[in-house]
Amino acid sequence: MERKFFHFYKDLKEVLIDGQTIKHRVEELALQITEDYADCQPHLIGILKGANVFHSDLIRAIHLPVTVDFIAVSSYGNSSQTTGEVRILKDPDESLAGKDVLLVEDIVDTGLTLNYLVEILRKREPKSLRIITLLSKPSRRKVDIHVDYIGFEIPDKFVVGYGLDYGQQYRNLPFLAIVEI
Ligand code: IMP
Ligand code: MG
Repeated sequence: MERKFFHFYKDLKEVLIDGQTIKHRVEELALQITEDYADCQPHLIGILKGANVFHSDLIRAIHLPVTVDFIAVSSYGNSSQTTGEVRILKDPDESLAGKDVLLVEDIVDTGLTLNYLVEILRKREPKSLRIITLLSKPSRRKVDIHVDYIGFEIPDKFVVGYGLDYGQQYRNLPFLAIVEI
């Protein structure tokens, strides 16, 4: 199945995490969230665009009533190098006040994006604010940010697929792959 994408996308090097493995891990994370939020209603805010695929699979695997929203921030543009500059392009539609917010991210790299976002969102007085990320590259961290749920820790390689892009390409891959940049 993966091979056909390798035919279209010549820069793909190798599969890092296949679709089945992602699915199982998303179900495990959702089960954990279902237990942890048993007495409340989590409000899952997906960080666009990268976390869109993870967010939509995750909410369907959580066995609780949930509400959803999205936020968009600028990060890398079309390059793979972080500038450290982050700004909000789209605010969540709903107020965060009094909600049990779970921020859904695709990947934590340097941690700068989330560090900035959390600082802003805390001022909006959510009842609680936790972070879930599908991927984490611990060796790249520049700020010490606490992440509550992590899908997979991965090495310092540039990965695409399952929502993650390189130059807006590759988001539709149903698996995670390493790309030559
Ligand atoms: P941070 O601020 O350095 O933690 O960057 C986080 C953002 O950078 C993520 O939300 C992604 O949009 C992007 N990013 C970091 N590493 C990768 C990668 O390997 N593939 C695709 N996007 C990445
Ligand atoms: Mg992102």
